[in-house]
Amino acid sequence: MVGGELLEQLLRSEHYERVTVFVRKPIACTHEKLQQVIVHFDQLEQYEEYFHVDDVFSCLGTTMKKAKTRQQFIKVDYEYTLRAAKLAEKCHVKTFLFVSAIGADPHSMFFYNRVKGETEEALQRLTIRSLHIFRPSLLTGAREEFRLAEKTAEWFCYGFSFAFVGKWKKYKPIAAKQVAEAMYYAALSEKQGVHIYECSEMKGQCEQKRGLSRQQ
Ligand SMILES: NC(=O)c1ccc[n+]([C@@H]2O[C@H](COP(=O)([O-])OP(=O)(O)OC[C@H]3O[C@@H](n4cnc5c(N)ncnc54)[C@H](OP(=O)(O)O)[C@@H]3O)[C@@H](O)[C@H]2O)c1
Repeated sequence: MVGGELLEQLLRSEHYERVTVFVRKPIACTHEKLQQVIVHFDQLEQYEEYFHVDDVFSCLGTTMKKAKTRQQFIKVDYEYTLRAAKLAEKCHVKTFLFVSAIGADPHSMFFYNRVKGETEEALQRLTIRSLHIFRPSLLTGAREEFRLAEKTAEWFCYGFSFAFVGKWKKYKPIAAKQVAEAMYYAALSEKQGVHIYECSEMKGQCEQKRGLSRQQ
């Protein structure tokens, strides 16, 4: 969902003249700037040539329901991300941007948060000029498949939206489109070093950018 929103953003952008997507199966999108690469993610290193780019955006991730085992979940969320980042490092990309999750913590008692935290930690050990980590809460948007747990959580959050104030603000659901926009603006910012964004920062960044473009 985030990847799809981001792709639209990048294709619309005048700052990117070419966009390459790594997919398992072709996506229904054609555009003069777009190159689709059908990737066998277990052999990611074979696709090194595609990493000679400015920015790499990683929106990949699975669910425990789909992965079925913890090992498979780790393979997708941790290993694929890290291997892509290592290729990005080797090819000297300027920016690597990664969708993590709220609560990411390598010491968390929750498996999902722990894997995200360990991925963040491993990424920070690499020497990439600019690393941006996004920690969204529950994502909202038009998803093709129906995910009962996410929909239930979304309805619950909607009902209790008044409670997301103060220190709870960061748990308020965020639109996948906003995460994608925040990633896009972060890539354009050319800020060096490691940057971690919680939901309120992502929302703030988008509002600020929109405000600026209205003023121009
Ligand atoms: N959903 C939430 O509420 C939520 C909240 C916080 C953080 N996040 C994180 O945000 C990120 C983006 O979430 P999303 O909801 O936008 O994800 P999504 O819609 O489920 O998309 C995930 C992407 O990863 C790819 N993928 C999954 N398993 C794969 C595998 N085994 N091999 C290769 N590619 C694989 C999918 O490819 P296909 O299209 O081929 O399946 C898809 O392109 C994820 O890392 C997720 O953990 C999600």
